[in-house]
Amino acid sequence: MIDLDANATTALLPEVVDAMLPWLREGHANPSGAHREAKRARAAIDRAREQVAALIGADASEIVFTGGGTESVNTALHSMDWLAGGGRAVVSAIEHSAVLRCTEAMARGVSLAPVNADGVLEMDAIAEHLKGAAFVSVMMANNETGVIQPVSKIFQMAKAMGLPTHSDAIQAAGKVAIDVKALGGDMLSISAHKFHGPKGVGALYVRSGLAFEPLLRGGGQESGRRSGTENTAGIVGMGVAAELAAKHLIEGGAASVAAMRDAFEAKVLGELAGVTLNGDPARRLPNTSHLSFAGCEAAGLLILLDEKNVACSAGSACMTGSQRPSHVQLAMGIPEVRAKSSLRFSFSRLNTMNDALNAADAVIAVVGRLRRVQGGGVGPVTVYSP
Ligand SMILES: Cc1ncc(COP(=O)(O)O)c(C=O)c1O
Repeated sequence: MIDLDANATTALLPEVVDAMLPWLREGHANPSGAHREAKRARAAIDRAREQVAALIGADASEIVFTGGGTESVNTALHSMDWLAGGGRAVVSAIEHSAVLRCTEAMARGVSLAPVNADGVLEMDAIAEHLKGAAFVSVMMANNETGVIQPVSKIFQMAKAMGLPTHSDAIQAAGKVAIDVKALGGDMLSISAHKFHGPKGVGALYVRSGLAFEPLLRGGGQESGRRSGTENTAGIVGMGVAAELAAKHLIEGGAASVAAMRDAFEAKVLGELAGVTLNGDPARRLPNTSHLSFAGCEAAGLLILLDEKNVACSAGSACMTGSQRPSHVQLAMGIPEVRAKSSLRFSFSRLNTMNDALNAADAVIAVVGRLRRVQGGGVGPVTVYSP
């Protein structure tokens, strides 16, 4: 299978598996214990904390391990809501459902800051939304289009108004460089499985000195910021994945991923008419390509591509199976029929240039076939797979 679904999740790197296995096999001690084995587990977690901190330019003491990206996001939003003593949240209209559903549930009012047709947050509009707000959360890069948002500018504006800030950097981490100090925000969420680490492990950056209210209370682990016995193997895996991601970025890996993505796009756009690239091409994650294929239903394309051993997504992975067009595309003003004809192709450093070119051939063949079935007309068609 050619896996072009890296924004949904990524494969564990062999080094990550190797680092985790001993902790699954014999390293079962509770890291909060007082004996030698417990201290060994504690030391492994401390090392992972350093590795994760280095990926985003944080101090190790500012990293809180969580049970994944969704938990990091919920913790950050809960803490800011508490800090601000309630009040209206400002989030972008294109946030992941982790942010949207969590702020909705707070029921104190959420305003959705709009994006332009390129999927970029509009600064004037967000400035208006920030007036009288309690806190702000904006994603660093969108999971569907890959478009990178002007988070630093938004944080500056929010800080000048005294508002707590958070960024969901779950798609950005490991794909582009992140420096939390330069960014200037209060909190930032990341998730291991998006950069070749294990699922169900995440981290929340909490700026040193920030007043913080935990979401999970109990035994007081993670310096009281996230209770629950630590997942030593998962955290160790996240640490190694973070170190390898940092190395990949330093060695210019983002450019080689972009080269594969660009070759794929050039071939598809060069050989097929009626294909639209969604999202600002100049400010995207290096791995993401979001394309609409006029006259083809995404659901049909997904089935045919699967038969050709190409894995990708329509919208975000969480929306697969949903008949609704993606809220991200609707927020960009993309008409419903085009939104339902869009696919997300997301590369990782485990892909090869051959994958990119073969996947492009598959897309060209499949779109051509669907359009032939349809007889050259426009609008969605139903696919019967032989
Ligand atoms: C932007 C964004 N935020 C949050 C999440 C949720 O992260 P996790 O799957 O680790 O809970 C995802 C995962 O798809 C995501 O892409």
